[in-house]
Amino acid sequence: MKTIAAVVYETGKPIEIEELDLDGPQAGEVLIRYTHAGLCHSDVHIAHGDLEARLPMVLGHEGAGIIEEVGPGVTRVKVGDHVVCSFIPNCGSCRYCASGQQSICDMGATILEGYLPGERFPISGPRGQYGAMCMLGTFSQYGVIHQNSCVKVDDDLPLEKAVLVGCGVPTGWGAAVNTANVKAGDTVAIYGIGGIGINAVQGARLSGAKNIVAIDPLENKREKAMELGATHAFASAEEAQDKIVELTRGQGADSAILTPGLLTSEIVASGFNAIGKGGTVVVTGLNKLDEQNIELPGSILTLFRKTIKGSLFGDCNPTVDIPKILGLYQSGDLKLDEIITRTYRLDQVNEGYDDLLAGKNVRGVVVHEH
Ligand SMILES: NC(=O)c1ccc[n+]([C@@H]2O[C@H](COP(=O)([O-])OP(=O)(O)OC[C@H]3O[C@@H](n4cnc5c(N)ncnc54)[C@H](O)[C@@H]3O)[C@@H](O)[C@H]2O)c1
Ligand SMILES: [Zn+2]
Ligand SMILES: [Zn+2]
Repeated sequence: MKTIAAVVYETGKPIEIEELDLDGPQAGEVLIRYTHAGLCHSDVHIAHGDLEARLPMVLGHEGAGIIEEVGPGVTRVKVGDHVVCSFIPNCGSCRYCASGQQSICDMGATILEGYLPGERFPISGPRGQYGAMCMLGTFSQYGVIHQNSCVKVDDDLPLEKAVLVGCGVPTGWGAAVNTANVKAGDTVAIYGIGGIGINAVQGARLSGAKNIVAIDPLENKREKAMELGATHAFASAEEAQDKIVELTRGQGADSAILTPGLLTSEIVASGFNAIGKGGTVVVTGLNKLDEQNIELPGSILTLFRKTIKGSLFGDCNPTVDIPKILGLYQSGDLKLDEIITRTYRLDQVNEGYDDLLAGKNVRGVVVHEH
């Protein structure tokens, strides 16, 4: 069948809209009709060449849709199921899945190559075989993906909102709840309030943090952070530092969560200085794969017993946490409607990313047409 998709052919160039060919699902695979796709910053990293991926690649890794066909042996979903895609698949049986660490499932090894197990490329077109970002490629009307990337959700959930739970919400929420392990009464500093950081604010609030200090140079982001649970908001790390010292009587924050668009050593140093003894810096934001962006005094790390932790997918277990987070949305405890700034058609994907880079959106969402 044919599908219209947003493709990166060459880094540094605009994303192209292309009609491509899509194979039917083979064993363990499903055909999904994507209804919505979120505009996460990680796709920009592919388009800019920060994250080196096999090209051409169909972008998009935050997605939701409806299952249209299943291949042999598929047991996790059936035709007609509503699904939120997990941007890292989980096999259920590798060492990491089996020990409750699905976000580092061995199946995720090829998310930047973009092929399915067995080096299978269901998408082809004028320039040969096309990979799909995170083995999903949600900037396409249809996709053939592995069943292990699918999490079935309630039919009555609005997919136009639930789509954010494919990446942005669990990544931010989990950075606070799981990785930083925020506790009641904690002081948390969050650097960068985009689609990820705003959900770190929500996660910190749900965990009972006393002080949630949001840092972003953009006023619209600071306002949104205050609306959704931050107790303080600052344009710079320096201003935030003074307040954190005051709020904690000099002890420093319990955790600093780093969710800027591009992670620099300056931001890492700010987070490191903001936390006190026994505190944790959570690294979620990305940069070039070989960028040396952690330069810190090791002796202070030791003497103050500080921790620096990488956080992938908020260290969530998608099969558990995607339904859990959607339950929090259904109960009104976690907000999704309020964090979607604008919707776009697929052919407006470049405009959507221009808006993201200009800081206009907390999250933009592509609404697919079929
Ligand atoms: N680890 C993971 O599992 C994972 C998953 C998804 C995304 N990411 C990464 O997380 C990062 C954030 O993604 P997003 O979609 O929220 O991006 P975004 O562009 O929506 O938001 C980034 C925010 O950071 C702010 N910012 C920029 N410089 C800053 C600074 N010096 N101090 C404070 N704030 C600053 C921007 O104003 C913006 O509001 C990206 O690097 C993305 O690739 C990581
Ligand atoms: Zn993402
Ligand atoms: Zn696994």
